[in-house]
Amino acid sequence: MGGLSSVPADGTPVRVAVISGRSDAWTRDKAVPVGVVYLRRTGPSQVVALHSVCPHAGCFIDYQTDRKAFFCPCHDSTFAVDGSINDPRSPSPRSMDTLAVEVRGESVWLRFQNFRSGIPAKVALT
Ligand code: FES
Repeated sequence: MGGLSSVPADGTPVRVAVISGRSDAWTRDKAVPVGVVYLRRTGPSQVVALHSVCPHAGCFIDYQTDRKAFFCPCHDSTFAVDGSINDPRSPSPRSMDTLAVEVRGESVWLRFQNFRSGIPAKVALT
């Protein structure tokens, strides 16, 4: 989905579009954007992915470089750079949702999923 070199080495999150395409013996789907995530490097070849959709009610979360924190403008949830809730007044019922990531050489791959909002548990939508 993207190159490792495009993820800042200093741990600053970068927002990237997730492109999904599927092909098998019978079908070949066109690659289309399916969502947006934040990628953050936690080591030379380690990357974590955070879903950009707020677990509270589904708005998009911004990363504010000046505050070095994530912020959801809909109801003022704030999250630390690792995606954890960093203000007890945040209405989000859980931290930002993480996604499974695999780094293969220079390529970053992830298993993109959406999750139910408004509940404390991280429950994938099917
Ligand atoms: S949707 Fe993000 S704080 Fe409500």
